[in-house]
Amino acid sequence: MKIMVINGPNINMLGIREPGIYGANSFADLWALIDATAKAEGLEIEQFQSNHEGAIVDKIQECYGKVDGIVINPAAYTHTSIAILDALKAVGIPAVEVHISKVSDREAFRQISYPGMYCEKTIQGKGLSGYTDAILYLKEKYG
Ligand code: DQA
Repeated sequence: MKIMVINGPNINMLGIREPGIYGANSFADLWALIDATAKAEGLEIEQFQSNHEGAIVDKIQECYGKVDGIVINPAAYTHTSIAILDALKAVGIPAVEVHISKVSDREAFRQISYPGMYCEKTIQGKGLSGYTDAILYLKEKYG
């Protein structure tokens, strides 16, 4: 089974950005955790991060016919991007949305998720382990 993990803007700043909200672990720690999960579960996992909306749309389109599941933290684009929602709908690949922080307890402008309208599950507020949970969910259901 092949899974694509996509992270949006500023996720590469983990460990530096607002550690009280996003924790002390670095982006390299997240990358290593996902690689370790892939190894332990016998999955092929590709990781991608971009600060650019169009690059994320391009990556989702590239997944068509090649990937069995998508784990996506669209970061701030969660709350603005119909383009990412439309890309997910276009490829039709099962997808899980992850947020490191508990978005539902935060500002009003974070309460809408456009990609979440496509994703079959949202995991939030579990820190980096939310990514592992999302991967295991996809493996159990589609692996
Ligand atoms: C986030 C939550 C978003 O509201 C925010 O813009 C992010 C990160 C999270 O993982 O908690 O950049 O997606």
